[in-house]
Amino acid sequence: MRCLRPCEGRGRRGRNPRAIQAALRLAETLVAVTHKVTLRNRGVTFHVAEDEPIYAAALREGIQLPIACNYGGCITCAAKMLSGKVRQPKGTALNRRQSQAGYILLCVALPVTDCEIDVGVESHDQLYQNPFAVAPGARLRR
Ligand code: FES
Repeated sequence: MRCLRPCEGRGRRGRNPRAIQAALRLAETLVAVTHKVTLRNRGVTFHVAEDEPIYAAALREGIQLPIACNYGGCITCAAKMLSGKVRQPKGTALNRRQSQAGYILLCVALPVTDCEIDVGVESHDQLYQNPFAVAPGARLRR
């Protein structure tokens, strides 16, 4: 089989380091573990590598989602996890109640399993809590 590398014919010392780096990056991509991520309320499914934020993978697929800080600090990209598991090493903006309600930050969320997610403001029904709201069944004091 004929070698198609750019270094062909130049011997070991003449190998192109950029071509080697590019080949290594391609190999890493090809062997990366990926998980299936479904955006249920958008009706789309795509594959995301374990070391790639879901937001970045969606953008690569041509899906523009809400974004602002892109580092886990503002919750603009919050989405509701319906099933699956993610790792959020820098997901600091969510409080405990929001995390327990199933919210994740797509800009920093790395999939650990296949995931099903609702995205956008239509998924934010439990994200914010009105501090002045009266709990159902509660009595107002006069
Ligand atoms: S864009 Fe700010 S937390 Fe994701």
